Amino acid sequence: VSDALVLITGASSGIGRALAHSVPFDAARIIDISRRGGAGVEHVRADLADPAGWRVVSALFADEVAGFEGSRVVFVHNAGTLEPIGYAGEVEPAAYMRQVLINSAAPQVLGDAFLRAALETRAACDMLMISSGAARSVYEGWSAYCAGKAALDQWVRTAGAEQRRRGNHCRVIAVAPGIVETAMQAEIRGSSRHAFPEVAKFEQLHREGALRSPAEVARELWALLERDLENGAVLDLRASS
Ligand SMILES: NC(=O)c1ccc[n+]([C@@H]2O[C@H](COP(=O)([O-])OP(=O)(O)OC[C@H]3O[C@@H](n4cnc5c(N)ncnc54)[C@H](OP(=O)(O)O)[C@@H]3O)[C@@H](O)[C@H]2O)c1
Repeated sequence: VSDALVLITGASSGIGRALAHSVPFDAARIIDISRRGGAGVEHVRADLADPAGWRVVSALFADEVAGFEGSRVVFVHNAGTLEPIGYAGEVEPAAYMRQVLINSAAPQVLGDAFLRAALETRAACDMLMISSGAARSVYEGWSAYCAGKAALDQWVRTAGAEQRRRGNHCRVIAVAPGIVETAMQAEIRGSSRHAFPEVAKFEQLHREGALRSPAEVARELWALLERDLENGAVLDLRASS
């Protein structure tokens, strides 16, 4: 019997995979929600750029979170994408639409579904959403990404205030992880200056060894959950140590 239930979107790669491999709870059931899987934990296949994928996740929450009898449930919404890197009005429309669906819509729809299921368990519930410095800074070539992370932060502030008003049944927080050595960073370095004018800065940070490892970031994210953070907090790992 599991005492903790941990659900992570995008645990097939990068930060999500490192989180799945360093869950700090005993007797935890760990579920990766992604397209590829392969992280060595339970896998539920869902494409989160497709509303049909959101329905798969809502059903999973209703089946597994609602009625969970252990002591703790954590949902980490970590899946995200920079594809397609390029200016609005210049990239492929279908790819742009998928980016809006995964970065802006999925956090809100999955967040709503998780909070609904969380009402049906006595376990302590946390929802951690992975944000980005791009929620505040302008990066030309990442318009839907910047907008999506800003939407995610504001959703967390608002849903967190609602949870405070309702007696903090579920704690909702957003965290920007800093610059982390994952496939997403390799994709950034592989983009053209035309599509992403700041590419040279990211190449330089990589050459200087300034990127953080996913394992280190995962450790800090798990430690953050043990802190007495206000519901609705929006944090940046670079500023919260
Ligand atoms: N790396 C950084 O420097 C950095 C900085 C700030 C914020 N972040 C944020 O950190 C999070 C994780 O990124 P990462 O750097 O670890 O990137 P990554 O290695 O590219 O991993 C991205 C994850 O998202 C999942 N994903 C992407 N599209 C999906 C879709 N349509 N449906 C379901 N899952 C999907 C992928 O799974 P599948 O491909 O298997 O579906 C993968 O597991 C993202 O939210 C990103 O915005 C990263």
